[in-house]
Amino acid sequence: MVNGKIWKDTDGNPIQAHGGMIARFRDTWYWYGENKGVPNIPGTTRVEPLGVSCYSSDDLLRWENRGVVLPVPEGVAVMERPKVMFVLQTGRYVMWFHADSEDYTFAGCGVAASDSPAGPFHMIHIIHPNRLDSRDMTLFTDKDGKQYLFHSSDYNKTMVISELTEDGTDVTGDYTKILAEQEREAPAVFLTRGTYYMISSGCTGWLPNTALYAQTQHLRSGWKLTGDPMSGPDSRRTFEGQSTWVFQAGEEFFLMLDHWHPYDLQSSGYSILPVIFDEAGTMTIPWQDEWNGV
Ligand code: GAL
Repeated sequence: MVNGKIWKDTDGNPIQAHGGMIARFRDTWYWYGENKGVPNIPGTTRVEPLGVSCYSSDDLLRWENRGVVLPVPEGVAVMERPKVMFVLQTGRYVMWFHADSEDYTFAGCGVAASDSPAGPFHMIHIIHPNRLDSRDMTLFTDKDGKQYLFHSSDYNKTMVISELTEDGTDVTGDYTKILAEQEREAPAVFLTRGTYYMISSGCTGWLPNTALYAQTQHLRSGWKLTGDPMSGPDSRRTFEGQSTWVFQAGEEFFLMLDHWHPYDLQSSGYSILPVIFDEAGTMTIPWQDEWNGV
């Protein structure tokens, strides 16, 4: 697969899974993302959303289209960055996504659940987590099994970590603000070798900017922005991409980027790049022209 371009599924159709994530559930890889497979609303940088798509794969290269696993809930004009987690307590798969109005002023989260990773997902509710505004977001499961929503809040100025209930469908009311006034979005969070990392973008809408990573030893405190991990041509603009998720395959970690085409969002490209650490835990993400699976 050529990094930065739109990729095709096993039927030869463009993969519509933007702002997405890849995870291994029940020995199969699943890729969830925004289905933007229609022309933009003329003259705008928006499409009428088509719901959340799901693709499955055994090798992270050949992706079979499993269809729309969550249609657009009534009244939702923006459906972005869907993320799915397995919830041990209930044995169910829970999806969170950014639910918004046309002008992005609603700034809420949709929550849906399914008994199977391949859906169908059923809507549970749309909330403002802890009565806060929430735009770009991701989910994270800690090593003790606790699950969290990371969301850009205070008009994208501050990142919030909201603890989730045991069934994964709501917030507990316990939350922490991190990276105050740093204006980070598109968070991708993971844990390796005892350190929590978050890769994020700055806030320039669909336009590329400099990625930064932050790290801490304790999930709820001590987050520090560390540097730009991207390396290679055009690294200062994240290779014209924006972070959406980091997944682990074997011992290795991989970053998924979206390469947005604001005026033709359905043709936006994808890339998957290795996340490399040196002995001191410094992160590097080198550009590679192709994604060849693992
Ligand atoms: C970006 C965000 C995208 C989308 C876009 C709309 O900053 O990461 O998910 O919301 O803004 O302009």
